[in-house]
Amino acid sequence: MGFKPVFIAIVIATGLIVTAFIVNSYRPSAVVNQPSAAFVRASGKCAECHSNSEYSIVHEYELSVHAQKNINCLECHQAAVGQARRDHHGFVINTKVTAANCRSCHEPVYQQFLRSRHAAASWAAVAGESAFTKEQVAFCERLHPGACRRPANSLAQLEGKSAISSGCSSCHSIGRPNADGTIGTCTACHSRHTSSVELARLPTTCGQCHMGPDHSQLEIYSESKHGVMFAAQKNQLDLAADPRKLTTRDMFVPTCATCHMSGLNGLAVTHDPSERLSYNLFAEASDKRLDYARRQAAMKDVCLKCHTKPLIERVYTQADEVVRATNEKVLAAKEIVERLRKDAILSSKRFQQPIDFAYFDLWHYDGRTTKHAAFMGGADFVQWHGNYPLLKHTVELKSLAEELRRDHGKKP
Ligand code: HEC
Ligand code: HEC
Ligand code: HEC
Ligand code: HEC
Ligand code: HEC
Ligand code: HEC
Ligand code: HEC
Ligand code: HEC
Repeated sequence: MGFKPVFIAIVIATGLIVTAFIVNSYRPSAVVNQPSAAFVRASGKCAECHSNSEYSIVHEYELSVHAQKNINCLECHQAAVGQARRDHHGFVINTKVTAANCRSCHEPVYQQFLRSRHAAASWAAVAGESAFTKEQVAFCERLHPGACRRPANSLAQLEGKSAISSGCSSCHSIGRPNADGTIGTCTACHSRHTSSVELARLPTTCGQCHMGPDHSQLEIYSESKHGVMFAAQKNQLDLAADPRKLTTRDMFVPTCATCHMSGLNGLAVTHDPSERLSYNLFAEASDKRLDYARRQAAMKDVCLKCHTKPLIERVYTQADEVVRATNEKVLAAKEIVERLRKDAILSSKRFQQPIDFAYFDLWHYDGRTTKHAAFMGGADFVQWHGNYPLLKHTVELKSLAEELRRDHGKKP
């Protein structure tokens, strides 16, 4: 054989090998990293039965980083400390997977979550302190004064059990205490089997709960420049990027998670979304949080990964002014209602008279929306879903107050 055919054969062979490597590098890592034999044995048994009856659950799990890292079904489904055990086709499983099971491998994350208002404060807002142990209440109160030592919510009581279980609970159970002594659920944002950061970084995931007239964060975000850019460019973002190495090259447009949780360009990831908030915007009259300056600086650090200082200072200066003005308007309306109570024209029981609703709408819908939108770039929500109905409800409230006084034979 001459030199030329050998040379051609070598060139072709090398070409094929290189191509194979290139093609392989473009295959998804879930396909390339085949599970080990031990893993197949461990999850195989569970999957064998369950992929017939609940294919979708097994498939979601197959897509997860857990499957890639050989974490098998039983590692989540076995009984952690304090959990009930049940014999199940040759295995012992626990009947209720909670944060206790996740914490066995993610303790630091659980500790951060526990400090946030997503934990005890969320459930106490509906069910009150009696749902918790004394220690749990004390822990929560140290971090968020007034958030846990409180009675069950009076509106929820009026609406009744079914309203609570299919309504309030669906969102607020993110911080419900579990029978095993832990608090809350991790799967509200990660889902039960994908355990995905990609899912958790999507605005619609937070928006399951953060939407509607009393906390229109999803709607505000959607109309903000950030939301518009996200809709246009989300396919160019790396939503699945490793949280420990997340940079503005992966996420050059922010979602809820970017501002409130991510560790962008070297910042630390946090599971305490309260860490970067300086006001209690959800409150009737918004006060500053403990450690106001440190918390505000932490959020500005995030903005500054993408923006220059003058732009950020302008947003905060304008939003501070909105908080001040809204507090003034809400407190003026509150004063009118309180005076009716003091003069025994209005009963101390809430939600009995139209004026109770006018006032509730005024601060709980209009006031909150105005303040949230001022910080998150929602012009329409500062104005047409905020200040305008706030003004309208103030006029209604005054007229209702005069009517009530007239009915009681007093001067308006
Ligand atoms: C021989 C088939 C079989 C095997 C193996 C099996 N399961 Fe099941 N599993 C079932 C069936 C059938 C059900 C439906 C409810 C029932 O009968 O308990 C079920 C129900 C469940 C439930 C829901 C229980 C509830 O009451 O909410 C969980 C969770 C579960 N299995 C997890 C697992 C895990 C984890 C493994 C592996 C360690 C596993 N299963 C192995 C057949 C199986
Ligand atoms: C990352 C932890 C984790 C892993 C891994 C995991 N599960 Fe689950 N699974 C959960 C959680 C959390 C729930 C919800 C439990 C609850 O509500 O009590 C659940 C619920 C279930 C249910 C009941 C779901 C329903 O909708 O009725 C089944 C069945 C189940 N898992 C099977 C499996 C099988 C099979 C595997 C492996 C292929 C697996 N799980 C792996 C965490 C996990
Ligand atoms: C047996 C240990 C174990 C358990 C139990 C466990 N995890 Fe994990 N988890 C891991 C490991 C290992 C990784 C991969 C970490 C890495 O890449 O270094 C991981 C990664 C993750 C990630 C990051 C995924 C990504 O896309 O980067 C999330 C989110 C997560 N787990 C959530 C959960 C939740 C929620 C639960 C409970 C329902 C849970 N884990 C239970 C071991 C566990
Ligand atoms: C769609 C999900 C959802 C439903 C349903 C829901 N909430 Fe909320 N709730 C939230 C979110 C999200 C916040 C946080 C708002 C913020 O910080 O701006 C919140 C805040 C609150 C707060 C103020 C925070 C605090 O700790 O004082 C109270 C009180 C409250 N909810 C009670 C209830 C009650 C009672 C019900 C049922 C009658 C209910 N919620 C139904 C999602 C929901
Ligand atoms: C409010 C939604 C939410 C809840 C609840 C939540 N997570 Fe996360 N989690 C996220 C987001 C968002 C990220 C990605 C942050 C980023 O952009 O880098 C993340 C990242 C992670 C990671 C990878 C980063 C790291 O720090 O290791 C793990 C592991 C994780 N979560 C586990 C958990 C566990 C365990 C719980 C319950 C104790 C939990 N998560 C509850 C939203 C949530
Ligand atoms: C399952 C429902 C649910 C999901 C999903 C959820 N939240 Fe929440 N969130 C709540 C509730 C309820 C509260 C109110 C807690 C309280 O103050 O009582 C809250 C409060 C907050 C707060 C205010 C905390 C404070 O200190 O006032 C922030 C910020 C927040 N969530 C961000 C997020 C982000 C970002 C995501 C998505 C990564 C998210 N949430 C997903 C239910 C949810
Ligand atoms: C560009 C960054 C950014 C994005 C994106 C963003 N937020 Fe915010 N968010 C803020 C700032 C700034 C505040 C006000 C902080 C303060 O009090 O100092 C805030 C306030 C909040 C609060 C109010 C807490 C309270 O005190 O009542 C909640 C809840 C919240 N955001 C949830 C969300 C959700 C859900 C999304 C996505 C739908 C989102 N945010 C998107 C920056 C952002
Ligand atoms: C991950 C990057 C990123 C983060 C973090 C971020 N932004 Fe942005 N922001 C953008 C991008 C991209 C645009 C659109 C830029 C453009 O039009 O050139 C934008 C636009 C804006 C605009 C609109 C400017 C205009 O006039 O059109 C404002 C205001 C703004 N951001 C404020 C903030 C504030 C306040 C924070 C922190 C609470 C923040 N941003 C955090 C990326 C980010």
